[in-house]
Amino acid sequence: MDLDALKADLEKDFLEINSQEVLNILKVKYLGKKGHISELSKNIKNLSKKDRPEFGKTIGELRKLCEEKIFAAQEQIEVNSINESLEKERIDITLPGSYKSQGKLHPLTVTTLKITDFFSAQGYLIEDGPEIESAYYNFDALNIPLDHPARDMHDTFYLDNGDLLRTHTSPVQIRAIEKRGAPLKIICPGKVYRSDADKTHTPMFHQIEGLVISENVNFGHLKNEIMTFIDFLFGPDTKVRFRPSYFPFTEPSAEVDIMDKKTKQWLEIMGCGLVHPNVIDMAGLDPNQFSGFAFGMGIERMAKLLYEIEDMRSLFTNDIKFLSQ
Ligand code: DAH
Repeated sequence: MDLDALKADLEKDFLEINSQEVLNILKVKYLGKKGHISELSKNIKNLSKKDRPEFGKTIGELRKLCEEKIFAAQEQIEVNSINESLEKERIDITLPGSYKSQGKLHPLTVTTLKITDFFSAQGYLIEDGPEIESAYYNFDALNIPLDHPARDMHDTFYLDNGDLLRTHTSPVQIRAIEKRGAPLKIICPGKVYRSDADKTHTPMFHQIEGLVISENVNFGHLKNEIMTFIDFLFGPDTKVRFRPSYFPFTEPSAEVDIMDKKTKQWLEIMGCGLVHPNVIDMAGLDPNQFSGFAFGMGIERMAKLLYEIEDMRSLFTNDIKFLSQ
């Protein structure tokens, strides 16, 4: 092969190079140990002394040309590959996003937070108490006599040592007064236990207890607090009724009913009253100086009214379909 033919071949080969493989082959073809340029260079020894410099120069130029073409082709291949991956990886921001389910708060948690948020905004402290309670805090200190039916084995889960699973959140009233003294405003959400199970009762359920202790507290204070709360939770047009009732730890006592906006029926939502002087006394305060009011409500009952839940047990079966509604 002569120099001109080689140059023509080279120009042709490098016209279109679309892959690294082709380029590698061409590199070997022209510049490899046995490549065309190397082979051709060997011919120099057959030439006359006169012709050698000219031939050497031309071969040198050819090698340089080849190297430049390889360099340019290499650059083009890299640019192509970057463009290709840019094209492939382009983000189409008009596509719909992929949805990640984040889970939701349980209706009971939502209801509890709503209620405790309201009361803590009114200056109530959120208080906590043990679920395993002594009969003293659960009954005696709340003025519940020994022969009261609530103490019955049927209703209360007793432990072998005589302690019990608290049947209401009211024992926290006593614990809070003992711990913090007066004046005092607390709200206490928590689990309570009774041996009961049907459409409207579960053996474990939740209550919220409220207690205010100060001087000269009267029923008007209680009523105002409850009315404001009901306005907040069920709307200002809710009809409310205070119905005289009996609890051993309050005197006088009342149950609070609201009217169901659809069925026009009265629904009981909580118990309340002025704290019995015996209770104030047993908690270690002077009932001649201090008075107070208390109230207690079932959180399931509230959730039921807020979310129109039919069967109380659906709050505990953890059916995702129900919970995500
Ligand atoms: N502890 C009562 C119950 O479980 C509810 C209750 C009624 C709480 C009146 C109170 C109250 O604080 O004043 O049925």
